[in-house]
Amino acid sequence: MQLVAGERCALAASSGLVNLAPDYPSKHFLATQTLDEARHVEIFTQRLFDLGVAKEDLESTIDRYANPNLVKFAEVLLEKVSDGDFIAGVVGQNIVLEGMAFTVFELLEATSRDLNPKFAQTLSGTIADERRHVGFGENRIGSLISEHPEKKPEIEKMQQEMSYYMLATFADVFSASGESIDEGRKLAAQQGADSLSTEWHGADLETATIEEIEGVLADTVLGEFKNRLGRIGIEYQSPSVPA
Ligand SMILES: [Fe+2]
Ligand SMILES: [Fe+2]
Repeated sequence: MQLVAGERCALAASSGLVNLAPDYPSKHFLATQTLDEARHVEIFTQRLFDLGVAKEDLESTIDRYANPNLVKFAEVLLEKVSDGDFIAGVVGQNIVLEGMAFTVFELLEATSRDLNPKFAQTLSGTIADERRHVGFGENRIGSLISEHPEKKPEIEKMQQEMSYYMLATFADVFSASGESIDEGRKLAAQQGADSLSTEWHGADLETATIEEIEGVLADTVLGEFKNRLGRIGIEYQSPSVPA
């Protein structure tokens, strides 16, 4: 559910950025990215249908279950795009949103490899796309930021707000899914799934608590924001911790 909401935001942002881009190579890249995001929306929507959501209930189900903090995260980004702010839009989309998506997909891929290989396969393809998208953010935007250093404070503020809503989303989603993850583990143990430990950024996904996994995910994403933003000359701002 959150994946569809996140990918819809990526589709809206990348398509909006096509017309704002100041040069043709950027327009071309963002247009191909728009196609990728449309495909991601389609793949994750199909998954909801496979899980039993009826076609006619799709929109109402998304409205009902999309996490409110993820909706805010998307609003911060889409406001920059609708204001016509290309530089902030690309940082928000190709570094913050994509950086988050990339790492969340990696975690989901690692946790579904044994139990749901088909979904893991789908995620691998999506991860490859997101890696390209993040690369564009870094390569193109670094030079634009050095031409417009006056934009930095506003971009840093946007990153801090988006990071806050991202952490709040993680907190909500992890506390809601804790039980079902425990269930899944029990089921896997009963079915005698081979319990080779899956290591992910230093956490053993078979035995780590939900809080530990959430902590590793948040640290990994924020660490990557910091590195990537540093490479384009933006100073990473720590978000306040959601209550
Ligand atoms: Fe995507
Ligand atoms: Fe993407």
